Amino acid sequence: MKIQSARFEISAPDLASCPESALREFALIGRSNVGKSSLINLLTGKRDLAKVSVTPGKTRLINFFLVNEAWHLVDLPGYGFAKTTKEQRADFNVAVADYLEERPNLVRVLVLIDSRLPPQRIDLEFINWLASCAVPFALVFTKADKQPAVVAANIAQFQKRLEDEGIAVPEIFTSSAETHKGRFEILDFIEQHLDEPLRFPDDEEEDAADGEADRPAETEPEQW
Ligand code: GTP
Ligand code: MG
Repeated sequence: MKIQSARFEISAPDLASCPESALREFALIGRSNVGKSSLINLLTGKRDLAKVSVTPGKTRLINFFLVNEAWHLVDLPGYGFAKTTKEQRADFNVAVADYLEERPNLVRVLVLIDSRLPPQRIDLEFINWLASCAVPFALVFTKADKQPAVVAANIAQFQKRLEDEGIAVPEIFTSSAETHKGRFEILDFIEQHLDEPLRFPDDEEEDAADGEADRPAETEPEQW
């Protein structure tokens, strides 16, 4: 897919503030500092579209970027940032959990994992929670330029951990904001899924009928 245009649209503090739109959304999430904003810049080909931070945990809102006037890239707050208060962290988690569980426009979550590290508990826990809520996701192993020798082994270990936990292994990408690795593969993947139907297509009727939407059971992630 060619990128013709990309611009920041809006920041939302919670699900209710997310824009009313029929456009499909691809959301990025991962540990603080894993490279979410850098990946947005890489995918859109715009160096400064999303703020790349030296201080972990800078992205605190749900940030919407409009691409090709046709779909949204959504930058979610990173999980596991240390330098905020507990209350703030709880707030972000609720907003993000709501968004992931309930946003009809969400087509895929791209979960970013640091390719330099062996499987981390916080990532596995988060993915476990996503899978338990039936939120469709793919994995992107970031910063592949930094320690290329360990990338393949870390990905293999991660895959094994997912299999051990009975989680279906999804599409896996490797990326680098430095070498641009992964850009075309991820954009192709997004293009392939652009026409996917909205989630919860029957909500309106059901809401009208009994005020309850047919959604996955309410569970909150434990430690992210
Ligand atoms: P928060 O929004 O703070 O959670 O961070 P983030 O996940 O958006 O990460 P961000 O894109 O701000 O990148 C964090 C740091 O990692 C920055 O110093 C980036 O320059 C660096 N970085 C991100 N991606 C790559 C990459 O592919 N290769 C290398 N070498 N550095 C990267
Ligand atoms: Mg960021």
